[in-house]
Amino acid sequence: GSFQEDLGAVVTNGSTQRLPQTIIIGVRKGGTRALLEMLSLHPDVAAAENEVHFFDWEEHYRQGLGWYLSQMPVSSPHQLTVEKTPAYFTSPQVPERVYRMNPAVRLLLIVRDPSERVLSDYAQVLHNHVQKRKPFPPIEALLARGSRLNPDYKALNRSLYHAHLRAWLRFFPLRSIHLVDGDRLIRDPFPEMQKVERFLQLAPQINASNFYFNKTKGFYCLRDSGRDRCLHESKGRAHPRLDPELLRRLREYFHEPNKKFFKLVGRTFDWH
Ligand code: A3P
Repeated sequence: GSFQEDLGAVVTNGSTQRLPQTIIIGVRKGGTRALLEMLSLHPDVAAAENEVHFFDWEEHYRQGLGWYLSQMPVSSPHQLTVEKTPAYFTSPQVPERVYRMNPAVRLLLIVRDPSERVLSDYAQVLHNHVQKRKPFPPIEALLARGSRLNPDYKALNRSLYHAHLRAWLRFFPLRSIHLVDGDRLIRDPFPEMQKVERFLQLAPQINASNFYFNKTKGFYCLRDSGRDRCLHESKGRAHPRLDPELLRRLREYFHEPNKKFFKLVGRTFDWH
C-alpha cells in the first residue's frame, strides 16, 4: 500500500521497516514467545523483539500506524514482518483495528489446554507480585467462590477461547487464522512449525535439527547455525498444584466452552 511506501523513507537495498503481514495475537501463556522464536529461525522472517501493544494500548494506538511501523524490525523485501502481543486476542477493540490496518493480514493463534493455561497465567502473575514484594492470594482463593468457580477471575475468562475468537471472526474468515497447538509445540515443535510455514507460504526452511530437547530445561531449545539457546527461565515455570477436586472442577468448567471452540474452528484438541 501507499501508506507503507510513504513512511518507508529510509531505503537501502530494499531494507526498510514494514508493517507486519502476520501477527501472533495470543493466547497469553499459550507459548507465544516459543512460537515467535521458532518462527524467527526462518530466514524470511523478521520479528519484532518486544511485545508492541499497538492495538490494545490507547496511548500507542493514538499515535497511529507511523508509530507502529517505527516499532518494526528492519526487513528486506522477501521477508515477512511479524510481531506478537498476546493481549490482542482477548481485547475486544483489537480485531476491528487490525482489520482496518490490513484485512488480508495472516493471524497466528496458539492455544493450549485451557486449565493448564489458567495455572500458567496464575504462576506468571504470582511471580510478578513476588518480584515486587507484593502479596498475592493463593490460587484457590481466586478460583473458587463457595462450591463454584469464580467467573470473574480473569485467568478463567482468558481461557474461554470460543468467546474471544468470535470477536475475531466478525472481521476475519477462519482461513486467515492459523491455530497452533501449544501443547504439541511443547512436546514436538517441528511438525507444528512446518504447518506454520505452510500457512504463511514460506519455503520449508525450518529443520528438525533446529530443535533439541534439553533435559535440564525440560523443554525443547533451539539450534541455529551452531548456536544453542533455550527460552528465558520465565518460560516453563512450575505450576501451582491444585487439590484434585478443584482441578476436576476447573477442567469441567471448560468442558462446554471447549466444545463450542472445537465447533467454531472445525477441529478438536486433546485437552482434559
Ligand atoms: P509455562 O511457563 O506455564 O510452562 P508465553 O510465551 O505465551 O507466555 O507462553 C509461555 C509458555 O510457553 C510456557 O508456559 C511453556 O509451557 C510454553 N513453551 C512452549 N514451548 C516452550 C519451549 N520450547 N521452552 C519453554 N517454554 C515453552
